[in-house]
Parts: sequence; structure tokens; C-alpha cells
Amino acid sequence: MTNNEDKLKKIISHAKEYGFVFQSSEIYDGLSAVYDYAQNGVELKKNIREAWWKAMVQMNENIVGIDSAIFMHPTIWKASGHVDAFNDPLIDNKDSKKRYRADVLVEDYLAKIEAKIFKEVDKAKKRFGDAFNEEEFLNTNARVLANKEKMEAISKRLYQSLEKNDLEDVKLLIEELEIACPISGSKNWTEVKQFNLMFATQMGSTAEGANEIYLRPETAQGIFVNYLNVQKTGRMKIPFGIAQTGKAFRNEIVARQFIFRMREFEQMEMQFFVRPGQEMQWYEHWKAERMKWHLSLGMNKEDYRFHDHEKLAHYANAAADIEFNFPMGFKELEGIHSRTDFDLKAHEKFTGKKLRYFDPEINESYVPYVVETSIGLDRMFLAVLSSAYNEEVLEDGSERVVLNLPPALAPYKAAILPLIKKDGLPEKAREIMTELQEDFMCHYEEKDAIGKRYRRHDAIGTPYCITVDHESLTDHMVTIRDRDTMQQERVAIADLRTLIFNKIKNKALV
Ligand code: GAP
Repeated sequence: MTNNEDKLKKIISHAKEYGFVFQSSEIYDGLSAVYDYAQNGVELKKNIREAWWKAMVQMNENIVGIDSAIFMHPTIWKASGHVDAFNDPLIDNKDSKKRYRADVLVEDYLAKIEAKIFKEVDKAKKRFGDAFNEEEFLNTNARVLANKEKMEAISKRLYQSLEKNDLEDVKLLIEELEIACPISGSKNWTEVKQFNLMFATQMGSTAEGANEIYLRPETAQGIFVNYLNVQKTGRMKIPFGIAQTGKAFRNEIVARQFIFRMREFEQMEMQFFVRPGQEMQWYEHWKAERMKWHLSLGMNKEDYRFHDHEKLAHYANAAADIEFNFPMGFKELEGIHSRTDFDLKAHEKFTGKKLRYFDPEINESYVPYVVETSIGLDRMFLAVLSSAYNEEVLEDGSERVVLNLPPALAPYKAAILPLIKKDGLPEKAREIMTELQEDFMCHYEEKDAIGKRYRRHDAIGTPYCITVDHESLTDHMVTIRDRDTMQQERVAIADLRTLIFNKIKNKALV
């Protein structure tokens, strides 16, 4: 097992043990790629959502929010291209009866070649010691160069075939590479078929009169079809944005890696409507703004990078991912897409209604261009959780697991802990709890030794533990312990509110 897989496993079990994320329907042996947020997880998720909403809606006068329904008119998905083009190429192994994404089988094969390159590098590092120049080695070693060339050829062929929808060639490629099913070990494959990712259900009271409708695969279309309503009722002037957060559904075939790829997930999307011709400047603007948001939360800069798309979706003229260094490596966390006027024009065509904007500045009517920012809330949750998770060995040799969450995102801001369960300490602690809970999520706990309670709150990322002892009854002071430094300080009860507020204050969030 690699360290990365190990870290993901630890995060999954920590998330379960400390009430962040549970497998859906666990007592029925679970439902694959569907998860429930537990008592602490729901708070962290809400705080991330609110931080996003504040940055996008509250802080931008020209962006407003909506909350559109999950069910929409089925023709919307025809117009958006999802009925015809929202597909994954699938292949079945006839012996194991297991179904795979054909492109992922080839990508896994490519990852194995890449692993060989890394192995060569490791070997050479050991051989040459300090004199080793990795860049030079990667550009000159014959075996590395041959493997790189092989990777490029395979990936070019795969993407060209997918682009042309030449599924026969994708199958041929799998056969030529002699890719075997990881379960049965056989190379006995079916044809490659396109599989639509949308979930369908019936609307209507009788089966006969029922209409097939879809669970939305993205929240964006709810914004497009409401754009003119919002523009008119909100008297919005271009450029302006519409934001929304909400559930989206995709019948993902390769569903793995915990909450990274789910069948039911939540998106936070914003469509920014601009004058045609100005989309590239707004695309660059939102790329920079979104990256700034991530860093403003206190996330590590080194864990982020941009990945510009070479292969563009059917609706885009430019697209980039913000990638995060998840325990599985750098992967897409957010997408910034210049979607042109594709969606609005398509809705005009399918409805026969004009979706134009009259721009008084240039005295012209046009279908606006759209720049979209789209982030998965669950993926952001995983990014926050994995960067906060730390195992520490303390000076006395003991170990602790701590979530160094940005304080503003932590489920609880403070834990109120009477040192013992008698002598009037619980009553005093309750008084403090009542005082603080109006402003902050606080947790009252009196069970177990104080050290154990500290550890429990370290594990869920509570920035402050407040301990009430016998002296508190007379000097009206308490001991406050900082999660990260574990330093303890004696402070006046009257100062607690300001102290906690200053700790969690983050311009981006509170
Ligand atoms: N409206 C554009 C759109 O939906 P996307 O790249 O397909 O674009 C946007 O999705 C974001 O939604 C991704 O960057 C990712 O964070 C999240 N996302 C997509 N599929 C997901 C899934 N199956 N599980 C969890 N998050 C997902």
C-alpha cells in the first residue's frame, strides 16, 4: 500500500469514527458512492458552503443567488447536450461480468508506465547520490524517453478516438495493450458502448401518463433557464452573475475514492453573464479570484495548481481546473469554464423564446456569453479535511490526531468543559455555554478525564477548549486551551466572546 492510499484510508476511518461522514444505508451494507454527512460533517459542510456564498454573493454587488428545483423540464437536457453527449465509454469483462470505463482502463495502464519512470528515477537517485540531476535524467535516459514516447502515443490515440466517437478503436487499443480485467485476469471484453450518466425517473400519477424526467446532473442549467427572469426582476446590468448551491446527480461508473466521486453530490456554481468578446478577460478574472478564495481560507498554496484543458467540452472555448493535492494526488477540485453563448442559444432554439439582453451602453441586443465557476462542495470538504488531518508525536512521546481546520470552518468553535461533574462546576460551565452559544457553535462535555476530552476535540478540530475549575467560581476566570499550540491561558469569562471572535475572524468567512 502506498502512503497516499494509507492516508485516504485513515481519513475515511477518522471521518466515520468522529461523526463527519458515514456510508449511506450502512446497516444495509451500504449504497455505493453515496454518503451521509454526520453531526460534525454537516457543520463543516455548511461552513464551507457559507464561506463560498459570502465570497461570491455577499461580497459582489453584481452577483445574486437562486435556488432552482432539481427536477426540470426534460427538454432542457436535450438542449444542453446532456441527453446526447453526457456519456462515459463503458466496456464489460465477459468473465467477471464487471463493468469498466474504457478510458479509465487505458489511463490506469498509462499510470503503470509512469510508475516505471518513477522507479527508474528512484534507482538513479540512489546510484548517483547528490550528483543526480532529475531533470537531465528525465530528458536523456533512453528507457525513460521510450516510456514517455509510448505514453504520448497511447494517450493521443485514446483521446482522438474518443473525440471521433470511434469506440471500435478504443476497444482495439485495449486489446493491443493486452489490458486484462483486474478481477478475472481475462482479456475477454465486450464492445465499448456509450452510457449516459443522467439518472432518469418518472413524473406523473399514472405509469401511462408518466413523463421521463432527469435528476439534474449540474445545477448550472437551473441558472440558464432563469437568467432572464433574474435579470429583469433584479434589474441586473451586464456583467452580472447568478450563483447557486445544490444537489446534482450522476450515475458514475468508476465510483471510488470516498466523497471525491459520488453519485449524489453538491455543487456550488456561478454563471457570470458578459458582453460577447469580453469573455476571455472575465475568464482570467474568475480564475484568479477563485484561486484567491481557496488561499484565503488558509489552505496551502503548494497544494494547488491550475490545469488548462486541451480537450474542451462541447460548450466551452476555454477551460481550466483548479487542482488540489488530494491524498490520491493532484485532481480536479473546481472548474472555470468559458461557456460561450452555447447554453442560452440552445434554450432559445428549443423554446423559440428570445433570451437576449439589451445593452444600453452599446445600444445593442445580444445573447450574453457566460463564464462559469463550478466547485464540488463534497470535494472541497475532502480537500479541507485531508489538509487539516495531522498525526503528531508530542514531546512526552504520546501521539495525538488533530484536525488543524481553519477556525472559521471548524464544526465547533469552543468546547465548554467543567473539570469535574460536581461542586457547582457544571452549573458555571452551563452559564458560559448559554452565553456563548448565541454567537458560536459550542459543545458542552463533562464525561471523562479532561485530557481525554481535549483529545476528542482535537480530533474534530475545535479551536478552543474552555475549562471551568474550582477557582472559576470565585475569580470568574477559566483556562482556555489552543488546539494547535496546546498552550493554556487563564482568561476572564467576560473576555471569552471577543477572544473566540478574534480567533475565528476571517474576512473571507465571518
Ligand atoms: N456546470 C459545470 C460542471 O458541472 P463539472 O466539471 O462536470 O462541470 C464541476 O463539475 C465540479 O463538480 C467538479 O470540479 C467537481 O468538484 C464536482 N463534481 C463533478 N462530478 C462529481 C462527482 N461525481 N462527485 C463529486 N463531485 C463532483
